[in-house]
Amino acid sequence: MWLLADDAAVVRAATRVCVESGAGLYRTPPPSGTPCVVLADASGNGLADLVGQVRGALPEAYLLGFMATPDPGAWREAERAGFDEVVSRGALGPSLRRALARLADGGAVRSYAICDAQDVAGRIGFLLEAEVPGMGKVSLFREQGRLVCLGTCPHQGAPLGRGEIEEGVVTCPAHGSRFDILTGERVRGPSDFDVACHGAYEQGGRIWVLTRP
Ligand code: FES
Repeated sequence: MWLLADDAAVVRAATRVCVESGAGLYRTPPPSGTPCVVLADASGNGLADLVGQVRGALPEAYLLGFMATPDPGAWREAERAGFDEVVSRGALGPSLRRALARLADGGAVRSYAICDAQDVAGRIGFLLEAEVPGMGKVSLFREQGRLVCLGTCPHQGAPLGRGEIEEGVVTCPAHGSRFDILTGERVRGPSDFDVACHGAYEQGGRIWVLTRP
């Protein structure tokens, strides 16, 4: 685990969980390619830079954020910045154990090359549609500088890539459900559910989608 926090209670909790689970604890970036859970404070400013730093060093890392004082707006901002999961500081231990257990199973670090980066270079919004093993059809978007993949619409399965995009929200072309592109959050029905949202990143001239659950 790469720990990006100085909060004494968090350091104690993270150290305890690492000792219990046999995971190494890094205070500086681990070597590239190390399967890793990154634990960071998700309540400060500069979250996009922080996420960029982590993804630049370890694109497949599972980025777990904590908040000392949970606030719904700040929570949403952290998810939009690219954290994989955000928890309150009090709930950190169980979430960290789960993330490390998934990592040990190999379930937290899989990714799949979806296309060549040059195929979508310089474009924004909807980029392409693709089949990803284990995930089915996904639509790749570039929104606010971030790459994300959305699954098909949870209402009746329409692909979302052909939908209209307005202020970071895509409208399903079939019956009009609306979803936040960066989080998959349902903004309007008829869908009753959020859409599956997977992070993606560019490395080695290819675009990779994170396929972990
Ligand atoms: S399939 Fe998307 S709203 Fe019906």
